[in-house]
Amino acid sequence: MIRALRLQRLKPGIFSKISEQKEAAIAAGKSVIDLSVGSPDMAPPPHVKETLLKAATDVSNYGYTLTEGIPELKEAIKNWYKRNYNTTLHPDKEILSLMGSQDGLAHIYLALLDPGDVVLVPDPGYPIYYDGALLAGGELYPMPLREENGFLPIFTDIPGDVCQKAKIMILNYPSNPLAATATKEFFQEAVAFARKNNIIICHDFAYSELSYDGFKNTSFLEVEGAKEVGVEIHSVSKTFNMAGCRLGFIVGNEEVISAMRLVKSNIDYGIFLPIQLAGAAALNGPDDCIKQNALAYQKRRDALVNELARFEWKVAKPKASMFVWAKLPPAFPSSVEFASQLLRETGVAVVPGTAFGPCGEGYVRIGLVQSEELLTEAAKRMGAFIQSKR
Ligand SMILES: Cc1ncc(COP(=O)(O)O)c(C=O)c1O
Repeated sequence: MIRALRLQRLKPGIFSKISEQKEAAIAAGKSVIDLSVGSPDMAPPPHVKETLLKAATDVSNYGYTLTEGIPELKEAIKNWYKRNYNTTLHPDKEILSLMGSQDGLAHIYLALLDPGDVVLVPDPGYPIYYDGALLAGGELYPMPLREENGFLPIFTDIPGDVCQKAKIMILNYPSNPLAATATKEFFQEAVAFARKNNIIICHDFAYSELSYDGFKNTSFLEVEGAKEVGVEIHSVSKTFNMAGCRLGFIVGNEEVISAMRLVKSNIDYGIFLPIQLAGAAALNGPDDCIKQNALAYQKRRDALVNELARFEWKVAKPKASMFVWAKLPPAFPSSVEFASQLLRETGVAVVPGTAFGPCGEGYVRIGLVQSEELLTEAAKRMGAFIQSKR
């Protein structure tokens, strides 16, 4: 056996299976509409592209950079948090750049976990929360997120012995895959729980700027005392359509940031300088592109949900994120079976809810990652599909 034993803790990714199914559907002559991956399809703002282009032509920008992030980027992050969330951050102690939020979510465990430590993870939740913890030798305690509780964890349901062993709790609002949001009151409750049980909270805020109908997402750090117990992870991937650039940042608790810096500086160097400059330009504004981006997703959401409703499949309209978390009609007990059949028969690819944890059973995640026209067409095909099974 060549592979390390720790790899046995990982399950094969669902996305490679969906990819095989997509290829099979194409080979069978279907026109595939892919709503499975959460990769933004729209363009970054013009001033960001210009900054990147200009910086890429300067040959002095091709050397190694420090893990920290350049001062221009840290200043932009500091100002972004002040402007958007009225939160003050110390650029050297409380901010660290990341190669996308995924980098932070994978490495935070190496920085904080000891063998046997428990991680409280959302179920359903974004897969790196689980895989990162398992690779670092942690133990998982999935917190069920149920519709009747607004897809929020119930802290009083977590057994006392689990609380004692827990070192980190992952939260993610707006949530992937649930498209659920959290209030300031919920984060206050989370801070109190973390304080009482000596747990570090890591809030994944990757979808911070994607909100609809005038709703504004709450930053975990807006809550009093949050910085004492946790960190927030942020990304330019979705806000500015820069997913391939691999730029994110982790902010908040000084001790966590310093542990992360130690891990990351031993693993790698910093991010390509032109990308850091482009990220700073994005965060510095102008901000109108952020609203336009969110509005485009809102229109897509409406196109999809309204069309599905015409086929009597009523799914909730999310207030945020770039997904619709659709409860399956009663005729479909298995989300894996639904997604496979749908792709095979109609060419529409969605993700079965169980790809994100057992509590995802009975749901599918539909990504708003195609034009309004294609989403309407996909909804028509999905509607006809469920009607054919009634
Ligand atoms: C909830 C959530 N967190 C983090 C990420 C990773 O984003 P990135 O590494 O591009 O910042 C994603 C990507 O889809 C996500 O959905």
